[in-house]
Amino acid sequence: MKTSLGAKTLLYPAPVMVVGTYNEQGQANVMTAAWGGIACSRPPCISISLRSATASHAYIVSRKAFTISLPSRAYAAQADYIGLVSGHNHNKFEELGLTPVASTLVDAPYVNEFPLVLECRLVAIHELGLHTQFIGEVMDVKVDKMLVTNKRRVNIEQLDPILFMPDSGLYYGLGTLIGEAFSIGKELVQHKDKA
Ligand SMILES: Cc1cc2nc3c(=O)[nH]c(=O)nc-3n(C[C@H](O)[C@H](O)[C@H](O)COP(=O)(O)O)c2cc1C
Repeated sequence: MKTSLGAKTLLYPAPVMVVGTYNEQGQANVMTAAWGGIACSRPPCISISLRSATASHAYIVSRKAFTISLPSRAYAAQADYIGLVSGHNHNKFEELGLTPVASTLVDAPYVNEFPLVLECRLVAIHELGLHTQFIGEVMDVKVDKMLVTNKRRVNIEQLDPILFMPDSGLYYGLGTLIGEAFSIGKELVQHKDKA
């Protein structure tokens, strides 16, 4: 039997992303965002949803660009801090000793210490209510070389991303491998076909 928890955004897990932007003076800023994800495969697009109260919101609108840097577990405290204070009155890069790198493809900086980066050009804005959804077309993905496998894939265990649970507000790491997509279900398809 199920019970109702009401209308909430309980979709697990949410990715911990660090959004990089420039302010009016060209100073690099970062904010943590967990509301977002993959939006389209072709062209490759991702979404992030920001409250207009964040400094990053205005910076994205004015520069029409942002980056997503994915911190690994080792940077969980820094990622949390980036989500606690605002670029309105903090220089988060300086305070955390992180290094901003200017993207050459979009008008936004990324975090050098974080292993995977998506460089995004703003392509759509959706006003949904408390949050504005920004859709960014991914112009390139930059990843630390040592994380790339010989099949040109990202070693997800080495990336060690941080997962956010919307209800409890807790951070988790990766769990164990379950199986391969578009593969472990094939056996069930054959069974059904036989019936
Ligand atoms: C784990 C985590 C996830 C967050 N996700 C979001 C989000 O998706 N959207 C949002 O508007 N704020 C989110 N926040 C809060 C912002 O990061 C926070 O308001 C930050 O101070 C904004 O920075 P800025 O003013 O420099 O842009 C999150 C904070 C944390 C710690």
